[in-house]
Amino acid sequence: MNLAVLGAQWGDEGKGKIVDLLTPRFDLVARYQGGHNAGHTVYVNGVKFVLRLIPSGILHSRVVCLIGNGLVVDPQAFFTEVDELGRNGINVENRLFVSDKAHLILPYHRDLDLLSEARRGERKIGTTSRGIGPAYEDKIARRGIRVGDLADPKALEQNVKDNVLARNRLVHDSTMDWHVVLGQLLEIGKRLQPLVRDVSLMLHDAARAGKSILFEGAQGTLLDIDHGTYPYVTSSNATIGGVCTGLGVGPRAIHGVLGVVKAYTTRVGEGPLPTELSDDMGKRLRDSGNEYGAVTGRPRRCGWYDAVAVRYGVRINGLDALALTKLDVLDGLEQIEICTAYRIGARTITDMPSDVAQLAACQPVYESMPGWDRPTKGVRRFDDLPENARRYVARLEKVTGVPAALVSTGSDRDETILRDDIIGTRLSGLHLK
Ligand code: GDP
Ligand code: IMO
Ligand code: MG
Repeated sequence: MNLAVLGAQWGDEGKGKIVDLLTPRFDLVARYQGGHNAGHTVYVNGVKFVLRLIPSGILHSRVVCLIGNGLVVDPQAFFTEVDELGRNGINVENRLFVSDKAHLILPYHRDLDLLSEARRGERKIGTTSRGIGPAYEDKIARRGIRVGDLADPKALEQNVKDNVLARNRLVHDSTMDWHVVLGQLLEIGKRLQPLVRDVSLMLHDAARAGKSILFEGAQGTLLDIDHGTYPYVTSSNATIGGVCTGLGVGPRAIHGVLGVVKAYTTRVGEGPLPTELSDDMGKRLRDSGNEYGAVTGRPRRCGWYDAVAVRYGVRINGLDALALTKLDVLDGLEQIEICTAYRIGARTITDMPSDVAQLAACQPVYESMPGWDRPTKGVRRFDDLPENARRYVARLEKVTGVPAALVSTGSDRDETILRDDIIGTRLSGLHLK
């Protein structure tokens, strides 16, 4: 079975942990969009790994990891990550490949990201300043430079020259030297070229040979360029459609869709967050959930579980099941709120409004649940959860409309409840391996 694992909120749902945990059931793990704006944290026996561009399956030595055409690749960041893994005993040789059609992030993209944010002033997006947006802009404008272009130095020279000179005109005080950019690119290109593949073809051949694939999403549904809270979004399709376009596979290659969601809500960067808590409770969630960005270290904004947002994620992605993470962060709370609808003026709505200004005007409608005293941290069987924690999970499933096949109770691999009955009915085939 091939499974897509993606975020159904505003990113940082715990995709890295879930992908790592499920990887032993697959032969390949493929990322389909984003870049090193992602920060996917995996803990193995207390050792922390943060994967940015490289799929979170890489820690399993048997598995082949692929970076699809839908990504924007900063070659420097890529090799920093490869080297970091190497220092930690993870060898990626012969099992990490990059699509020839993926676009490159070049130094001027980072400059343009910063400039664009500065120009927006108070309306800034709060990007990760990695050059992600400007690199995708070039892709769409058909002037981007792709990984495969590294194989043709002559054409590359012309492209780099045109792009750098155009950028220098755009950024008035920029005197970036295209020779330097080209030199760096050719140098790093030598190291990158042996890893370059036709990823779509590799996936096709793997599927024909009976191998199974996990498609790993970055960011989350509400950060999707089309379906997110535009313009406060990232510049790629984090939602399910991105799997097909970002890897070159047909829709029937996706046999199941698992949405990762936190038992509450977080967001990093600007843009509306209806359930945001600016009070002590928000601080409590940030502290006990250690809600600081894995990439930028920025504090994440925290709030209660927003079922309107997750239901939207269910609809956009056709989720078969949820992986519910960070339940343990709610341990010890007396009362927990669940947002089931929004109030806007005199109206109550149960679907996400398309317009960001409308969303910003929405007030959450809450229902309360009692908390639990006994910790859920590290619990591995659903029946071992405190009764109120079980009731909370059941209520989330009910208001979201999709069952939780996995419940995560800590950051380590082992701190997870695998609900075989739900996996069997909703993700049948996942247990086969
Ligand atoms: P991703 O971007 O979706 O992979 O998520 P991040 O790695 O950015 O953020 C999730 C954070 O929560 C990481 O620090 C994880 O180690 C941590 N985490 C994941 N699952 C759990 C859980 O069930 N409980 C707790 N306490 N932490 C978790
Ligand atoms: P993972 O994969 C959370 C947010 C940024 C900003 C917006 C645009 O770890 O869940 P960008 O640099 O992409 O142009 O920034 O998107 N953002 C993320 N938020 N998790 C992420 O990735 C994110 N990647 C980007 O904070 O609001
Ligand atoms: Mg993250």
